[in-house]
Amino acid sequence: MGTFSVLPRHIGIIMDGNGRWAKQRGLVRTEGHKQGAKVFRDIATYCSELGIEAVTFYAFSTENWRRPETEVDAIMDIFRDFLDELERRESENEEMGFRIRFIGDMSRLPADIVSLIRITEQRSADKRRTTVNVAVNYGGRQEIVHAARELAELAAAGKLQPDEITEELFARHTYTGDLPDPDVIIRPSGELRLSNFLTWQSAYSELWFSDVLWPDFTRADLDQVIHDFEKRNRRFGGV
Ligand code: IPE
Ligand code: IPE
Ligand code: MG
Repeated sequence: MGTFSVLPRHIGIIMDGNGRWAKQRGLVRTEGHKQGAKVFRDIATYCSELGIEAVTFYAFSTENWRRPETEVDAIMDIFRDFLDELERRESENEEMGFRIRFIGDMSRLPADIVSLIRITEQRSADKRRTTVNVAVNYGGRQEIVHAARELAELAAAGKLQPDEITEELFARHTYTGDLPDPDVIIRPSGELRLSNFLTWQSAYSELWFSDVLWPDFTRADLDQVIHDFEKRNRRFGGV
C-alpha cells in the first residue's frame, strides 16, 4: 500500500475503455464490462483500505442507453450479478469495507435491480469511513435539473424564497450533497473529456488522464494518481 502526504478526500472515476480492452483481446465487449466490474471491486476496496472518504465511480451514463439493446442488457446483468454477489457475501458475514450508494435516476432501471440496490445500500449504511457512490443512469446535467426541480418544488410550496438559493443550498440538493466535491477525477482510456460526469461538483477538480484502459487499471495506477495529486498546486482562484 502506498504512503502519501496528502490524500484526496473524494475521488471520481470514469470507468472507461472496457469495450476497447475486450476488442484488443478478440473478446466480445461484454467481457470487458465483466473485467471492469472486477476492477471496480478491487479499487473500491483499496480506497477503503487507504481511508479515502469518498469515491464516485461512473458506471452507466444517461447517454449509454444509446448503445445496442444487447449491450445495455448485458451491462444490467452484470449489475444484477454484482449486487447478488454482494448480498451473498454479506449473508456469509464477509465484511464489505465501505458504504455503497447508487446515484442517478433509478426510475429507468429494472425493478429487481432497484430493489437489490436498496437492500445493498441499507446493509452497508453504517460503514461511514468510506462512501462508494456508483453512478448509474447518471448524467451531470440530469442531476442539475433534478436539484433545480427539488428547489422549485420547495419554492412552489412556499417553503423557499428565490434569494435563499445559494451555491451551498444547491450543492446540498445534488446526489453528493453530504460529501466534499471531488478533489481529483480520473479518466482512463485516452479520452480527454468528462462525458457529463459530476458537472456541478467538478468545478475545481484536478483532472487525471491516462491511456490505460479501465480493465487494466491497478492499485499502482491509483497510487500514481495520488502521488501526482500531492504535487498539484490548487489555487481555487487565489495566488
Ligand atoms: C465504459 O467502457 C463502460 C460504459 C460506458 C458502460 P466502454 O464500453 O465505453 O468502453 P469503450 O470506450 O468502448 O472502450
Ligand atoms: C463515459 O464513458 C460513461 C461511463 C464510463 C459510464 P463513455 O464511453 O460513455 O463516454 P464517451 O461516449 O466516450 O464520451
Ligand atoms: Mg467508452
